[in-house]
Amino acid sequence: MKRASHSDIQILNPDIEDYIESLTPAGDTILREMEEHARVTEFPIIGPLVGRLLFQLALMVGAKNVLELGSGFGYSAYWLAKAVGEGGSVVYTDMSEENARAASDFLGRAGLGQRLDIRTGDAVRILEGSPGGFDVIFNDIDKEYYPLVIDPAYEKLRKGGIFITDNVLWSGRVLTPDDSPGTEGVKEFTRLLFSKEGFYSSIVPLRDGVSVSVKL
Ligand SMILES: C[S@@+](CC[C@H](N)C(=O)[O-])C[C@H]1O[C@@H](n2cnc3c(N)ncnc32)[C@H](O)[C@@H]1O
Repeated sequence: MKRASHSDIQILNPDIEDYIESLTPAGDTILREMEEHARVTEFPIIGPLVGRLLFQLALMVGAKNVLELGSGFGYSAYWLAKAVGEGGSVVYTDMSEENARAASDFLGRAGLGQRLDIRTGDAVRILEGSPGGFDVIFNDIDKEYYPLVIDPAYEKLRKGGIFITDNVLWSGRVLTPDDSPGTEGVKEFTRLLFSKEGFYSSIVPLRDGVSVSVKL
């Protein structure tokens, strides 16, 4: 049997992806500016298709209280901050002060600054130290740390809350013998997630794969 190498694997047929993108209205000025910023700086963001999914899932559970692990310059936080509405809160976490300043600028200009609670440092520690009761936790930190997120995310979600993680198909590297820390982290994470009692999980094969788990 032919062994898959990661360059072989296109998770979503590019024509299908283009088709879905063609149905997706362009975002507002700030969102487009953030997408351009990601393109120019080659910063990995979730992009509009996964952004819409986050927004929609957060709306479906009536999220008011969200925590994000690995917020970068605030693109995914933008979608979550829109979803929580007035009076809602998104805890932003990132290692980088520079990213946090950029996020504060972008979301401030988008009129969403009041909804953002910026914390810099290790995202897992911040999660562990938070009071919890979150409606949604979104995880997008460095992949080798993914396995560390499952237990605290479970503990800090409310019942019926959802835990969402990006990159769980990792450009198809999950099918390869690649033993880099990132690929090992994603594979171990997904094994643990699917065997975690108390989470009911699925993978949406959109873009780079998104796992969605509900706390039972
Ligand atoms: C893929 S980017 C996040 C992109 C963002 N979620 C978006 O779509 O707009 C990952 C971010 O996580 C941050 N990061 C990685 N590991 C981290 C950790 N353990 N704690 C805090 N931040 C972390 C990096 O600094 C980087 O900004």
